[in-house]
Amino acid sequence: MTKGIFITFEGIDGCGKSTQLAMTKEWLINAGYDVLQIREPGGTVVGEKIRGILLDKKNDSMVSLAELLLYEAARAQITEEVIKPALEQGKVVISDRFFDSTYAYQGHARELGDDLVNSLNLIATNNLEPDVTLLLDITPEEALKRRQGRGEAEDRLEALGTSFQAKVREGYLQLASSVDRVKVVDASCSIEDIQAQIRNYIQDLIKV
Ligand code: TMP
Repeated sequence: MTKGIFITFEGIDGCGKSTQLAMTKEWLINAGYDVLQIREPGGTVVGEKIRGILLDKKNDSMVSLAELLLYEAARAQITEEVIKPALEQGKVVISDRFFDSTYAYQGHARELGDDLVNSLNLIATNNLEPDVTLLLDITPEEALKRRQGRGEAEDRLEALGTSFQAKVREGYLQLASSVDRVKVVDASCSIEDIQAQIRNYIQDLIKV
């Protein structure tokens, strides 16, 4: 199988992933790479429907285990339908979130536990792991300010507030301290400085 490169972006809500993803995509395309940008949950017809259920604030009775299984269902779909074929074609796949989100949000913040989440993550992806993961690290207070600045309506998980986001952040940092693939990017600095950190990590992996 011709192997492409799989890069994922992670962080709490409002950490600035979308901006950085767009900049990274443009940079890689200009360098001649065939780039596919995706997001999780979503990115397929089935996955976007699941995303609608997951983010709908009206679904406030959803239990944590149902939430976990829905994220994994969306992930199984996008992995088989989109990510694996793209990697086989040698593309650079850049994803707005992947299974480390489940580790931080459902495993750590929802307290479903690392073992359950790790097992389901590997089942849903059939053991596919990113080549590198950029964790955009920022405080929940700063992230909230950014989200409010954008004036968007908050979704079901954002509505859980800064204490939930603090637990998510803690989960991410714990993961980064034990998994070499996960690189912590200081996302409190300027857009350009954040992008420079990201490019450095990607250049450790491919020639750009
Ligand atoms: P986003 O596309 O705006 O980042 O929204 C996705 C939301 O879903 C965000 O609050 C993070 C959350 N999420 C999880 O809780 N677990 C997951 O596995 C994934 C992929 C996302």
